[in-house]
Amino acid sequence: MEERRLGPVVGLGTWRTFGGDAATAHEVVGSALAAGVRVFDSSPMYGGAEASLGAALRERRDGTVVATKIWSQSVADGKAQYGRQVEWFGRVEIEQIHNLAAWREQLAWLEQERALGRVDRLGVTHYAPSAFGELAEALRTRRFDVVQLPLNPREREAERELLPLAAELGVAVIVMRPFGEGALLRRSPSAEALRELGVETWPEALLKWVLSDPRVDVVIPATSKPERAATNAAAGLPPWFGPDERARVAELAA
Ligand SMILES: NC(=O)c1ccc[n+]([C@@H]2O[C@H](COP(=O)([O-])OP(=O)(O)OC[C@H]3O[C@@H](n4cnc5c(N)ncnc54)[C@H](OP(=O)(O)O)[C@@H]3O)[C@@H](O)[C@H]2O)c1
Repeated sequence: MEERRLGPVVGLGTWRTFGGDAATAHEVVGSALAAGVRVFDSSPMYGGAEASLGAALRERRDGTVVATKIWSQSVADGKAQYGRQVEWFGRVEIEQIHNLAAWREQLAWLEQERALGRVDRLGVTHYAPSAFGELAEALRTRRFDVVQLPLNPREREAERELLPLAAELGVAVIVMRPFGEGALLRRSPSAEALRELGVETWPEALLKWVLSDPRVDVVIPATSKPERAATNAAAGLPPWFGPDERARVAELAA
């Protein structure tokens, strides 16, 4: 399944950071692209973020991967969401079923889109550990190529069942919430602790912690600041952390 791998890379999330603010989206996306980011995650749930991401990527879409979502209990509404995405993005490379919403019903028509080559990969997402059992059930159908889940040193429930299952099935993993929606960044460890880890900043350490798990493909930190989009992207380069460094990051994040 190696050729199916997406990473390890840093992508860009879009929840709550630029919404319908097209100017901010243009700057943040431009900075991310210049720093080598290629995977952009969005959803109809993110209040205008898809439209502003689409506008920001226009003229510079080549080589990029749009990972967005279908989020509705109704198939008709799901298809309408997809129609708008095709207008904004031209096509969707990774189409994910958001929060498992009507996943069996949405999957049936999305599989046809994939079979026709209009979508490259199908994924399924959930943010809550209480839904991880159903997320695993969905993956076991072997009808999904991608799973999106939360993972950071304070939220490690995915390590129990989902990451081993994804590795076993050859399902690519996209990690949301690497900074715990910013909560892990409120306090930074000392400069000396960071130096010992071989990194310059705490966000870099947290992103490297996620990508150092060989079962993870893409991590999608969100930011409204162009300069942070660039520094976050830089964390997607080796060297990766070994077990000792990962344990140290977990200790510092506790
Ligand atoms: N959270 C969920 O439940 C969920 C669910 C489904 C999908 N997702 C996807 O996953 C993406 C990422 O998750 P998330 O947005 O919830 O949280 P996150 O990426 O863990 O954290 C985002 C927060 O971190 C801050 N930040 C980013 N880079 C920083 C840096 N270098 N230094 C300091 N602060 C930094 C941002 O603030 P500034 O804007 O001020 O930089 C923002 O408030 C989402 O955008 C979305 O695409 C999330």
